[in-house]
Amino acid sequence: MRILDCDYFVVGSGIAGLMSAIGLSRHGKVSIATKKECTDSNTNYAQGGIACVVRDDDSFADHIADTLDAGAGLCDESVVKAVVSGGPERIAELEQLGMEFAADKISNDGSYDLGKEGGHSHRRVFHAGDVTGAKLEAALLAQVAASPNITMCDHFMVVDLITTSWLGIDSDNRCVGAYVLDSRTNEMAVVRAPHVVLASGGGGKVYLYTSNPDIATGDGVAMAWRAGVPIANMEFIQFHPTCLHHPDAKSFLISEAVRGEGAVLVDAAGHPFMDKYDRRSSLAPRDIVARAIDNEMKERGDICMYLDARHKSESFLKERFSNIYDTCLGFGIDMANDLIPVVPAAHYFCGGIQAGIDGRTTLDGFYACGEVACTGLHGANRLASNSLLEALVCSHEMIKMIGTLPKAEAHKKVAIPDWEFGDAVRSDEKIVVEHNWSELRTCMWDYVGIVRTDKRLERAHRRISNLKQEIREYYLDYLVTPDMLELRNIAAVAELIVQSAMQRKESRGLHYTLDYPETLDKIEDTVIRRTMSFER
Ligand code: SIN
Repeated sequence: MRILDCDYFVVGSGIAGLMSAIGLSRHGKVSIATKKECTDSNTNYAQGGIACVVRDDDSFADHIADTLDAGAGLCDESVVKAVVSGGPERIAELEQLGMEFAADKISNDGSYDLGKEGGHSHRRVFHAGDVTGAKLEAALLAQVAASPNITMCDHFMVVDLITTSWLGIDSDNRCVGAYVLDSRTNEMAVVRAPHVVLASGGGGKVYLYTSNPDIATGDGVAMAWRAGVPIANMEFIQFHPTCLHHPDAKSFLISEAVRGEGAVLVDAAGHPFMDKYDRRSSLAPRDIVARAIDNEMKERGDICMYLDARHKSESFLKERFSNIYDTCLGFGIDMANDLIPVVPAAHYFCGGIQAGIDGRTTLDGFYACGEVACTGLHGANRLASNSLLEALVCSHEMIKMIGTLPKAEAHKKVAIPDWEFGDAVRSDEKIVVEHNWSELRTCMWDYVGIVRTDKRLERAHRRISNLKQEIREYYLDYLVTPDMLELRNIAAVAELIVQSAMQRKESRGLHYTLDYPETLDKIEDTVIRRTMSFER
């Protein structure tokens, strides 16, 4: 079996992965694994931007207060302070790396055009129109391509982490690499490295409706869990309130920045309804807005609600939201003249692999950064546009920390066994994968969505356990394929979400249950630790 050695193995090619790789390449050889094309990441689809305080009428204290307020008591205040105050330097670094943020064309004095989003008390979102993520990816990928120390391995799907305890080596447990499937050739390989950074993003695909691209199957959380790393706060799934509702539109987001520019949520008759739910109306934090839309749809029996941006001129909308404007028009919706049909959809995991602000986890040599990590920044509900900021600050802290560690060579002597194919045969039952894939995602949408109950969670738990068992048998009996691996991962993540939701006997932030509508005084993270040994 092919063995690739490197100093740092980075999994994921979104902002967290690319920034980690760029920084670590100053210390040694980096390989990046990305499971499809390198532009296939959640970052690439980010429309909003990066929240960061620069204006004199804004302050770190206000951004910290907004983040804590959205997080519903569960944020780690020290992490919030460090991330918020680390923002300006990281924005400057991005600019040095070639990123251009939109300038304020009205004042024309060199200041930035800052956006506003739900839960923010000030305009503070750095953006590049509504294609911020795509521009960011392009700038960072150009840096990666120019670096002689970075190798980009596309179509490399990481199957599982390799730890010394799994290898039976009698020493303190640490991560020494990972098995990867080259999906172009369907061959297994090993990447051996003393430092493995998971920056593989979230897993919106666990739900039937999501704003996330197809690659978002929670692979990082699932493999960290299998390796015995604690997973925290998985019940807090953020549903974005406004995904475009159209039979042909898959996963298309109408950025919260549209509401930031004054667009209002209305019913089919054009009547605003958000004032009933929150004093901040259409710009309340996402958990409140998503729940309100869900409630209106259920009460009225409607299949969607609407966003009214008609107070803005066509020229403004075309300039500020060129991508959204053109996409809506492609579906026959002229946002300058028509209401935009919207529904909530799974958008962001606030929980994930329990990690420090510097990416450190309980497993030596293994770090988590970006959406895959749970650092304590988001608490029970992420404030809009805080995620790219978190990825920037945490990757920076991680690079600093890893740079202080002694250069490790010992991993190169670790003998890693070939992948065991056993009696596995080529699958002729693709239908099983497809069927289980849709059953699982539908079950999560129906029973573990925006509003939960004990009964729905128990029902989901039973079904997911059965599906997991069937998937495991299928995994052992047949040769692995990327689809099979993704199914195995979404099943593991679905189970973690349900288990976490069942443990939380209160409503807080994004976790809302009709059985326990109150928020308890006692504030606790939900942490799930694997008690069995490493599962393959
Ligand atoms: C949006 O543009 O509404 C999404 C931004 C985010 O999720 O932070």
